[in-house]
Amino acid sequence: MATNPEIERRRTFAIVAHPDAGKTSLTEKFLLFGGQIQVAGAVKSNKIKKTATSDWMDIEKQRGISVTTSVMEFDYKDYKVNILDTPGHQDFAEDTYRTLTAVDSVIIVVDGAKGVETQTRKLMEVCRMRNTPVIIFVNKMDREAKDPFDLMDELEEELVIQVRPLTWPIESGPRFKGVYNLYEHNLNLFQPSKQVVTEKVEVDITTEELDNRIGHDLADKLRGELELIEGVYPEFNVDEYLKGEVAPVFFGSALNNFGVEELLNTFVEIAPSPRPVKAEERTVQPDEAKFTGFIFKITANIDPNHRSCIAFCKVCSGKFSRNVPYYHVRHDKTMRFSSPTQFMAQRKTTVDEAWAGDIIGLPDNGTFKIGDTLTEGEKLHFRGLPSFSPEMFKYIENADPMKQKQLAKGIDQLMDEGVAQLFVNQFNGRKIIGTVGQLQFEVIQYRLEHEYNAKCRWEPVSLYKACWIESDDPTELEAFKKRKYQYMAKDREGRDVFLADSGYVLQMAQMDFKHIKFHFTSEF
Ligand code: G4P
Repeated sequence: MATNPEIERRRTFAIVAHPDAGKTSLTEKFLLFGGQIQVAGAVKSNKIKKTATSDWMDIEKQRGISVTTSVMEFDYKDYKVNILDTPGHQDFAEDTYRTLTAVDSVIIVVDGAKGVETQTRKLMEVCRMRNTPVIIFVNKMDREAKDPFDLMDELEEELVIQVRPLTWPIESGPRFKGVYNLYEHNLNLFQPSKQVVTEKVEVDITTEELDNRIGHDLADKLRGELELIEGVYPEFNVDEYLKGEVAPVFFGSALNNFGVEELLNTFVEIAPSPRPVKAEERTVQPDEAKFTGFIFKITANIDPNHRSCIAFCKVCSGKFSRNVPYYHVRHDKTMRFSSPTQFMAQRKTTVDEAWAGDIIGLPDNGTFKIGDTLTEGEKLHFRGLPSFSPEMFKYIENADPMKQKQLAKGIDQLMDEGVAQLFVNQFNGRKIIGTVGQLQFEVIQYRLEHEYNAKCRWEPVSLYKACWIESDDPTELEAFKKRKYQYMAKDREGRDVFLADSGYVLQMAQMDFKHIKFHFTSEF
């Protein structure tokens, strides 16, 4: 734990969810509590943002999809809360995964009626890879939801983590009465309202008062359920949560601002302050005196005529100061930043200093790549998240012979931003772009045209997975590469990648070449 109070009070986290589960609504309510906005409805949905600051690209406006990640920060009680917003569209899942490298904990929002959905599962996998502490918020309890015990089992099985309810719902949908707080032992009665925060009542559940409040039948049912919970789930242990072993669960309705205050209060209390970050050379402690940080995200600028970008830097240790020279490890160069920015809900401001845990935006003209490290002189390399095998692949071709150079530069820079992955087929030299979803191809095409004045054309290539390969047996590796020469490619780091065109081919390859390891992520 950090000993510097400035660092200790920071809570840097992301709210993640399958689209439509209620991430935007919950974020908005947090901002309401943080005093960043005054009325509900001020934050536009991630999908149809019209004026919000993270709406940086024309394409977002055109398509009504927020592509970029932004940061919102506010003070709450004695804490400084940094929320990292993530793209609302699942085609940009890779962006979300990358953002998760910069957070110290995560709140996962689950729709009470739908339970665990595809995207929730994948996000949890990424959290598990890094042992990120997770709190689960089961949302939309004002609608008919699944049985809470079934939901608990589902969360545990599907997300592969132990769960421990800290609040418990009394019915759902039209019969929803509220939640019982197992931590503070009080009852929070539900009144549907987007603005008002409902009052909590201290109720001794063994007394008649509970019956008076929610009716005899429901009171009896609740007593029975609470007894069962105490019997089934072990006492909540904060250390287990911090190790990423147990996820506390809250129930509520983000839209109605119900159950959100409990969540936020418990969150600031138990969520970790900035955690130590592993670099290749050593583990960096947040309260080390010297500044270190890494770039986890690069986004295009608001002004489409101006190609400069913003690189998001997570401060890992010490204090970052404006105009002080820092060491850019990959370039082996010192640089200073005269206008670093921090982000509020609706605006960004220049900052003079930032502490470990904070996110700062650095104006970038192609100096940064995702994963770049800044220090006060030490040669450190923070390790980002590995690239995952893309789901979709296309050949990218030049559609304007006069603009070959612009196209190459555009592709290069967009890949540096982490928009998609590039593989070069070793057999025919053709460039293959791999993405998570169709939309990324459209973003690339659009941005190449508008920012780099280059035109591209997509051509189909039927591939199943990209596998990074390695082996202790160089002869076998060579034999494999020779046999599969048409399907061998290099990624941008020059690593060998096998482009399997079907699951069957991959399976056969795994059987025939027993000493070769096929990895679906770029780090192993
Ligand atoms: P997302 O960012 O995770 O995609 O979810 P978002 O908050 O945008 O919520 C998705 C939809 O679910 C929205 O409805 C929102 O109003 C609704 N919603 C969120 N929380 C609750 C809740 O606690 N109860 C109920 N009943 N609904 C909830 P929409 O129709 O898509 O948009 P809007 O017209 O309401 O803005």
